[in-house]
Amino acid sequence: MISIILVPLGFYYVNWSKSGEGAGLYSRDWKPDEVFAYWNPDDFYQPVKSVVGVFKGEECINCHKGVTPGIVKDWQASRHSKADKKVFCSDCHGDNHENLHMPTPKVCASCHTVQHQQFVDEKRYGFPSHALAMERALDAKHFVDKPKAEVTACLQCHSVATKCDSCHSRHKFSAAEARRPEACITCHSGPPHPDDETYFNSAHGQLYLKEGDQWDWSKPLKKGNYPAPTCAYCHMDEGKHQVADKSIWKFGLKQINPLSSGNEIKRNKWIKLCSDCHDKNWSAQQLKAMDAERKKTWNKLYQAEAILKDLRSNNNLFPSTELRPPYPGDTKHSLIQRERIGFFEGQASAFYNVSPIERDYFNMWYFGNLGAYKGSAHGDNSFVKKWHASMDENLKDIKIKAEQLQRSEKIKTNTKIIKDIWHKGEYTEFNQENN
Ligand code: HEC
Ligand code: HEC
Ligand code: HEC
Ligand code: HEC
Ligand code: HEC
Ligand code: HEC
Ligand code: HEC
Ligand code: HEC
Repeated sequence: MISIILVPLGFYYVNWSKSGEGAGLYSRDWKPDEVFAYWNPDDFYQPVKSVVGVFKGEECINCHKGVTPGIVKDWQASRHSKADKKVFCSDCHGDNHENLHMPTPKVCASCHTVQHQQFVDEKRYGFPSHALAMERALDAKHFVDKPKAEVTACLQCHSVATKCDSCHSRHKFSAAEARRPEACITCHSGPPHPDDETYFNSAHGQLYLKEGDQWDWSKPLKKGNYPAPTCAYCHMDEGKHQVADKSIWKFGLKQINPLSSGNEIKRNKWIKLCSDCHDKNWSAQQLKAMDAERKKTWNKLYQAEAILKDLRSNNNLFPSTELRPPYPGDTKHSLIQRERIGFFEGQASAFYNVSPIERDYFNMWYFGNLGAYKGSAHGDNSFVKKWHASMDENLKDIKIKAEQLQRSEKIKTNTKIIKDIWHKGEYTEFNQENN
């Protein structure tokens, strides 16, 4: 009975949340920057009104030779300008200048059905995935919890879902360019996902750096065509426009069972891929070593989590929740305020508004865990060693701080000062007013 009322109410609430000036679940809490028009054209692009008229393909080219010569040059170098039936500016942007559009994947789909179909089909493997990237960023709590200046760039990377020029850049749209690791590392680098660093440190990356310029990049990504694999060789095997169909450990945020039947199927796909160049059993062993590394990491993370949960239940975390500013999203979206420990109790808890001991834990799972994972996934042992040493250090600090918190009543007397510091400044007033 109660669900008859609650379910429609739930739908109503979600629709209401999505109807603000922004987009996604928190659309009412932020306003789009102008550049979002290009990163997420479906939601935000408005055509320019300064040029009027309907033009044929050759006319677009002739005028744009003067207006945007670089774009015309790249187009001339592309397969689109050399096809029997040329693909003009108007085929992708429209021909009425007052009503142009920025091409979304659907526009490319009219000619490249196969790639588009594969790309969209990726959704069924869940997240992370390229096809879901935009909504995953917009609906992430820290997208609204953090100041705008820190989150604008989220959409630059997460636009991989909403346009097809991420790996073969406009307006050359070259397949050869997309096969190289440089096509991926604009987004796949830095602490939470050090794919760039770990790949280039690996035997594969080293070989690429030494001789990659001499390889024939016009060849498709298939067995026999390349001496060492690149990102796309491994993650988009045989040119399939899908990066999520073999992922077991995914982003590395959660412990999973690599031996479940679904994961075994995925693992076998990996082994088959490595076997393009390596022995099959040897490859299976390499991937098992990654599972062992993951187990070791989770062992450490669970120890830290247990200590923090214990402090929380005994009211020993300091500063406690009532001394901290509320998570901006939370005041509106949830009634219960409490310290959130671990990624799955809330992403904001990881990035914002944490006490020193929680920060140690954050360092463990964000830098240590994710760094060690990518090291072991990509064959970079120096990274694995470095980040395990760092996690050990964090865990040691957590144990020391926990003991101090349990013992010391002293630090809890300064609550007034703490409250003043935490409740003022950029992350609170400024942030809430300027998103
Ligand atoms: C194969 C499809 C395709 C063709 C052909 C094409 N474009 Fe584009 N164009 C795109 C895509 C994709 C984007 C990026 C969209 C976005 O950022 O949302 C883009 C963006 C742009 C932009 C805005 C971004 C920038 O770099 O300045 C301009 C201007 C533009 N195109 C002009 C042209 C002109 C002029 C031509 C013809 C010479 C042309 N395009 C041909 C697909 C195409
Ligand atoms: C007579 C010259 C002329 C012709 C013909 C012309 N354009 Fe443009 N186009 C411009 C100018 C000027 C701008 C810059 C407008 C501005 O920024 O206000 C522009 C801007 C654009 C943009 C960028 C819009 C944005 O929001 O960033 C695209 C895309 C574009 N043109 C595509 C085309 C296509 C497709 C055709 C053919 C159907 C075409 N143009 C024909 C002069 C022309
Ligand atoms: C009107 C049809 C049409 C549209 C729309 C179109 N393309 Fe193409 N595309 C082609 C044709 C034709 C070729 C050349 C095929 C060939 O030469 O075999 C091509 C080739 C390509 C290639 C291969 C280039 C290479 O180096 O081998 C890529 C990548 C590509 N297109 C991407 C895109 C993207 C991305 C979009 C959308 C922004 C798009 N195309 C929109 C018709 C189209
Ligand atoms: C424009 C930015 C961008 C580029 C370029 C890009 N990616 Fe991604 N990729 C992302 C984002 C963002 C996500 C996470 C999406 C999400 O939140 O669900 C992602 C996720 C992934 C995943 C995770 C899938 C999973 O199931 O865990 C893989 C693998 C991947 N990308 C491989 C690649 C490869 C290989 C290339 C180059 C050929 C590439 N990406 C280029 C932005 C990019
Ligand atoms: C430099 C490019 C880049 C920027 C900037 C970026 N991301 Fe990501 N993001 C990625 C990549 C790549 C992944 C996937 C990593 C993997 O699977 O290993 C990812 C993963 C994620 C995930 C986890 C996967 C999922 O679907 O749940 C979320 C959530 C996310 N990003 C949200 C954000 C938000 C919010 C911001 C801004 C604060 C942001 N990202 C900024 C590239 C980026
Ligand atoms: C994550 C990077 C990435 C993204 C995003 C991406 N591509 Fe590609 N694309 C590639 C790679 C790598 C190749 C080369 C595949 C091969 O060697 O077989 C390629 C090749 C192509 C080709 C040429 C295929 C052939 O057999 O010649 C077309 C057409 C194409 N892509 C269209 C698209 C379209 C349409 C989209 C958007 C739905 C898109 N791509 C998005 C990486 C990407
Ligand atoms: C030799 C093959 C290989 C190469 C080359 C490679 N990776 Fe990976 N990558 C893997 C394996 C294996 C995993 C772990 C897969 C699992 O079990 O989840 C992984 C994991 C990932 C993940 C986490 C999501 C997932 O699929 O589990 C991302 C994102 C990623 N790699 C991106 C990249 C990027 C970007 C590059 C290039 C800079 C690259 N990889 C190069 C094999 C490779
Ligand atoms: C396109 C061929 C190719 C593919 C595919 C490939 N590798 Fe490699 N791999 C190489 C080459 C070449 C070397 C360097 C060999 C050497 O140094 O003697 C190498 C070296 C390695 C090394 C370091 C060398 C060592 O003896 O410890 C590891 C680990 C490795 N590969 C793991 C993998 C795994 C795991 C996969 C699948 C996820 C894979 N490779 C897929 C070609 C490949």
